[in-house]
Amino acid sequence: MIFDNWDQLEQAVSSCENCRLCETRIQTVLGAGNPKAPILLVGEGPGENEDKQGIPFVGRGGQLLDKLLLHVGLSREKDVYITNMVKCRPPKNRNPMPDEQEACIDYLRSQTALIRPKIIVCLGRIAACKLISPDFKVTSQHGQFFERNNVLLTATFHPASVLRNPPQRGLTVDDFIAIKEKLDELLASELGRDC
Ligand code: URA
Ligand code: SF4
Repeated sequence: MIFDNWDQLEQAVSSCENCRLCETRIQTVLGAGNPKAPILLVGEGPGENEDKQGIPFVGRGGQLLDKLLLHVGLSREKDVYITNMVKCRPPKNRNPMPDEQEACIDYLRSQTALIRPKIIVCLGRIAACKLISPDFKVTSQHGQFFERNNVLLTATFHPASVLRNPPQRGLTVDDFIAIKEKLDELLASELGRDC
């Protein structure tokens, strides 16, 4: 079911029992940031800190994400909205399973419809495989842009992966620079049209 207002969406998610992840969560994590942001960032699922605080990307990965955003001049509060493929923490931070992602996908669809972002950024393989293409390879396809329904989709490395693999850091910085440039381009062409 697709929700067309935030109150109903928040209510539905906070009491959702559509998949087994409801049994082990402390609380649901819907998302954070600007609900009118031009960029929607999508991770995998809440980790331990996120489950405790009810806010996405607040652990070590989140701190790296904050740094990346700051580095390219994007504000976490104003320019982006951050969420995950699943809104409940998978036990021991395992990957969310395909049936769990499917059970949760309408919440992400609702968020996308409400936010109407210009660019959707998949953070890591899980989001990229579900949102861009099932055989997506982050190592070779990160930083590429794909258009679907007038929205641009792209993927970069997951912050947790960058923490484990320092050589990915530079590539991820470059992807964020390209995302910011793409956004500036889109905003400039919109202004051009209005004149
Ligand atoms: N990793 C994710 O994919 N999402 C979070 O919210 C935190 C860590
Ligand atoms: Fe519901 Fe999504 Fe949580 Fe599963 S992960 S219980 S579908 S909110």
